[in-house]
Amino acid sequence: MSDRENISWGNIKFKGHSRILDAMRGVHINQTLRAAVKLELFTLLAENPLTVEEIRIALDLHGRGLGDFLDTLVSLELLERDGNGKDARYRNTAEVSLFLVKGSPQFIGWSFEHRMQVFEQSWGALAEALKTGKPVRQDIRESGKDLFELNYQSDEGARTFVEGMNFGQLGSFTDFAREFDFSGCHKLCDIGGANGLLSILVARQHKHMKCISFDLPALEPYALKKIKEAGLSDRITVLNGNFFEDDFPRADIITMGNILHDWNLEQKKLLIGKAYEALPDEGRMVVIEYIIDDERRKNTAGLLMSVQMLLVTEGGFDFTAADFDSWARESGFKRTSSMHLKGNSRAVIAYK
Ligand SMILES: C[S@@+](CC[C@H](N)C(=O)[O-])C[C@H]1O[C@@H](n2cnc3c(N)ncnc32)[C@H](O)[C@@H]1O
Repeated sequence: MSDRENISWGNIKFKGHSRILDAMRGVHINQTLRAAVKLELFTLLAENPLTVEEIRIALDLHGRGLGDFLDTLVSLELLERDGNGKDARYRNTAEVSLFLVKGSPQFIGWSFEHRMQVFEQSWGALAEALKTGKPVRQDIRESGKDLFELNYQSDEGARTFVEGMNFGQLGSFTDFAREFDFSGCHKLCDIGGANGLLSILVARQHKHMKCISFDLPALEPYALKKIKEAGLSDRITVLNGNFFEDDFPRADIITMGNILHDWNLEQKKLLIGKAYEALPDEGRMVVIEYIIDDERRKNTAGLLMSVQMLLVTEGGFDFTAADFDSWARESGFKRTSSMHLKGNSRAVIAYK
């Protein structure tokens, strides 16, 4: 690298682009989106694209900083802008229309601010968690209950959790349903299927498939409702159970979306072994998560998710495809492969 690209301070040379400033800017980005959600900007723009002045009047704002705020959202690809100058009109991106406009069936705005506050609290205690190795949530540390049991103690907790899951997984599950080879298979069981999103996307795409969405009883009403709304009650069954205690239903394909990372190594291996037992010869287990790259250098989203597991679980951690391959082979699977999916996720597939 030429010296022109470096900044020097004594003997120390570093690239002019500061990663420290980038990391600090994360807070600005986070708060910009939070303010937009709080002001219900995206719901306002769902009707019509509007100018800065029209937005100012509709939201009863002062006006100072508003153009910068809106253009920041444009630069973050959270809004689009037609034209330049004061007559330019702002409109929602497709993603924002789906998730942040009131009235959309996928709206997550009710729980967005709550979730941000929970993140702030738990991530704010990261240094402490690194010292203790314990989850930062006091109720998890003290109750002996896991994240799910605690979240599902109230309807609000269960609903918020399910909404968040669907928001995070729509891209990767859609990609999986479209791209995975379902020929020769008839039955899929999604272990920890929450409200049935993965089963719905697979059943919609592949008319010959029947699916079972297996999860704790607390999520049954959410799954039944979503599957009914999708018009797929005849091909998707909701099964209540505890995946540590109950046998898995037999199926040609067993999927686990964001399940293994919640648990410690022994529990991960137990779940992989149970999938192996429930599959026929040639059956496949598919794990969809933010799989960390094998060298553990690149997939920041996967690594951050693993840190998140430190904060909210007793023993959970994310893993690489190579890790999964060794655990799967230990359980008896012949080989594994991997498939890139949208939204930082990958599917790792074990073949019986
Ligand atoms: C991180 S969420 C993933 C949900 C969904 N697969 C997805 O990716 O959106 C973990 C799921 O596992 C379920 N779960 C947790 N413990 C369970 C248990 N002991 N038995 C069955 N399901 C469980 C939770 O209810 C939750 O739906």
